[in-house]
Amino acid sequence: MSEHAAPDLRRVGEDASVDDAQAQHDAEGLAAFEQIIAQDSRVEPRDWMPAGYRKTLLRQISQHAHSEIIGMQPEANWITRAPSLKRKAILIAKVQDEAGHGLYLYSAAETLGQNRDRMMDDLLAGKARYSSIFNYPARTWADMGAIGWLVDGAAICNQVPLCRASYGPYGRAMVRICKEESFHQRQGFEILLELSNGTPAQKQMAQDAVNRWYAPALMMFGPPDDESPNSKQSMAWNIKRFSNDELRRRFLGMMVEQAKVLGLTLPDENIRYNEAEGHWEHGPLDWDEFAEVLAGRGPCNAQRMERRREAHENGAWVREAAAAYAAKRAAKEHAA
Ligand SMILES: [Fe+2]
Ligand SMILES: [Fe+2]
Repeated sequence: MSEHAAPDLRRVGEDASVDDAQAQHDAEGLAAFEQIIAQDSRVEPRDWMPAGYRKTLLRQISQHAHSEIIGMQPEANWITRAPSLKRKAILIAKVQDEAGHGLYLYSAAETLGQNRDRMMDDLLAGKARYSSIFNYPARTWADMGAIGWLVDGAAICNQVPLCRASYGPYGRAMVRICKEESFHQRQGFEILLELSNGTPAQKQMAQDAVNRWYAPALMMFGPPDDESPNSKQSMAWNIKRFSNDELRRRFLGMMVEQAKVLGLTLPDENIRYNEAEGHWEHGPLDWDEFAEVLAGRGPCNAQRMERRREAHENGAWVREAAAAYAAKRAAKEHAA
């Protein structure tokens, strides 16, 4: 053994210097990262970042991407039954936008070093989450209105502050997404406005849809602040700018005013403006239901996942063709 002692020791010595260099690199990286955060500037993919920051972003962005593509399903369900050609064209454009949002977000997540196939595998294996709201059924045409008005409305409230998220690719993706979300909310509002001014049965259909989507939309902002342990760190890293409850209250204030214009009511007798606190308040929400839906036991969880698996399998030839084309082009460029 003694004849191996010297090389072993040398190896230990080399490792130590590599470790020192790594430690110094990390210390400098952390200082630069902290400065970027303190200056409210942007972190870019090649910058050093703490492992927790990368992990948090990867989880948040990939969940967001999954939500966009699963979120296509409740509305795609109504494309063939849209009441007019104009409504059908608008709905197709909206559902297509959501696919685009998924694309921007998967691309942003990839800049953090995660492969898109892996993200998709996690979704299909049930390991990754998506927004619980998309596990509720779209029962009538008025649901297209309520989803656009309330669900896309909540998405805007949540996403506008994310345009200033400290991670560059995420913030930039959000800018474009938010522009499209405004159109989505507007089209939902307009569907409800037309129904609300239609026959009594149409107005009732609009009210019924709002009644069903109101509470799940409020819960889209996530659990109350005292039960959201990761929020604080996300805010310290300038990813999140406002707490879940703050965002929820802002959204509620907007909806209260818009509901008046629609001539519809929000199904909550406890909505009031708290003068002393300077914010809106709502009645209790069913967080047990939220937990159940998130755990996979909502009304449409199984159906949504089955549909996604089916779409993934049906799309295999597109991915193969795109990969074959990319390989062919790369070979051509290499030969040139
Ligand atoms: Fe979207
Ligand atoms: Fe949308």
